[in-house]
Amino acid sequence: MPTESRTRVAQALHLVFGQGSRIPDHWDSDLNSEDAAFAQALLGLCLRRWGRLQAYILTKLSDPDRGIPLGTQISLAIGFAQLAWLPGISDHAAVNEAVELTGDRVLGFPPHKGLVNALLRAGVKNREALCTELNRMPAHLDRTPFADRVMKAALAPRHQEHLMEELWLKQQEPPPTFFKAVKDGPIPEGLMPDPRVAGALSMAPGTRFPREWLQDGTGMVQDCSSQALMNFSLNNPPLRIADLCAAPGGKTTSLFLRWPAAEIYSVEQNPRRARRLEENLRARGVKAQIIIEEASKWLDQTQLSFDLILLDAPCSGSGTLRKHPELVWLGDRLDEQSLSRTQQTILTAALPRMNKGGILIYSVCSWLPEEGLKWRDRLLTDFTDLEPAPIWPENSVQSNNGNEFLPDPLNWEGEGFQAFAVKRK
Ligand SMILES: C[S@@+](CC[C@H](N)C(=O)[O-])C[C@H]1O[C@@H](n2cnc3c(N)ncnc32)[C@H](O)[C@@H]1O
Repeated sequence: MPTESRTRVAQALHLVFGQGSRIPDHWDSDLNSEDAAFAQALLGLCLRRWGRLQAYILTKLSDPDRGIPLGTQISLAIGFAQLAWLPGISDHAAVNEAVELTGDRVLGFPPHKGLVNALLRAGVKNREALCTELNRMPAHLDRTPFADRVMKAALAPRHQEHLMEELWLKQQEPPPTFFKAVKDGPIPEGLMPDPRVAGALSMAPGTRFPREWLQDGTGMVQDCSSQALMNFSLNNPPLRIADLCAAPGGKTTSLFLRWPAAEIYSVEQNPRRARRLEENLRARGVKAQIIIEEASKWLDQTQLSFDLILLDAPCSGSGTLRKHPELVWLGDRLDEQSLSRTQQTILTAALPRMNKGGILIYSVCSWLPEEGLKWRDRLLTDFTDLEPAPIWPENSVQSNNGNEFLPDPLNWEGEGFQAFAVKRK
């Protein structure tokens, strides 16, 4: 039997390359910390280097034109990735477990056990040479038209399009994890204030992941882009706030920490995600009314109006390629039109619910302008009672003019984000 961690990696790769699906957030959450760390490293390598691994495998086949089934591709990718880039893994573990995976009727392709064994054993003979050969293969094999489009869009606002290779290299490194303290109390050992974002904590290398601190709601994981986004300034404290796409609740938590006396409505349409939102807010002691409903429907029905509306809209997630490398392979299949319709519908429903002097913040973890700043331009053209609201620090790495939030992709560790703020006159 292959170990649970390798089995999970194989299942995740089947999801991506077999079903064209994203990898769920909690795909590894019931593995112990050591196994989860190994599984994350292995899956990251397979996804980030899938193109070169498959091109390499083809060169080893006697009849490459016939191709091989996905189960064999996955077993070989898992085996070769360990042999080439995880020197701490023994030859025996890397080869035998990949062969066993091949023997699994669901995850592998049993008739190819011998082939997988032979190819991996050939790789074992000189792991250093295997690593060199794979590293020398052209980087473009691991890229897709979607990845190129996203990176171009990320670099365009600062006229850095000539720095595509630099940005691509950055996407190859797993991103650092950032945390935020929610309640008073000791900060876990190894977490320290990050000088780049007020309130953000980053983790010293080799630190144990602070699971208990997160589980009991004393702290939360929140990317430094989200933390910087939520460090905006308003002239007046908002009395009533709507967070329209709220699960898992990171931004609702930030809103509560800043304005605990405000009436906060936290809207989420997906019941399963709403349950997680509820659990997170309860553990953190966040007081907010949770509404399980499609946001535009709720906005159309409610009589309430708001001083602050946050629309952290559903999007392609194209700013998160570093954290979710599977998106490189799935991006071209995303239904961008449907996402765009949802963004427009919720935005349109939110406008009449803004109080005079109220602020709407729209954000997406995407670099594609059609999901982000395009909506700001449309709103300002179509609605003369709206004006840009400068709520972020100007001339910073995150914002030129204070009313749009667009971190510099090359000089910023956080996810790619776009946000803008408009005020009702
Ligand atoms: C980008 S995530 C929000 C992250 C959250 N704001 C946070 O900081 O923790 C988008 C969320 O919006 C929800 N969603 C998508 N379309 C929605 C809609 N039309 N109405 C309400 N919620 C929606 C999704 O289920 C998802 O949980």
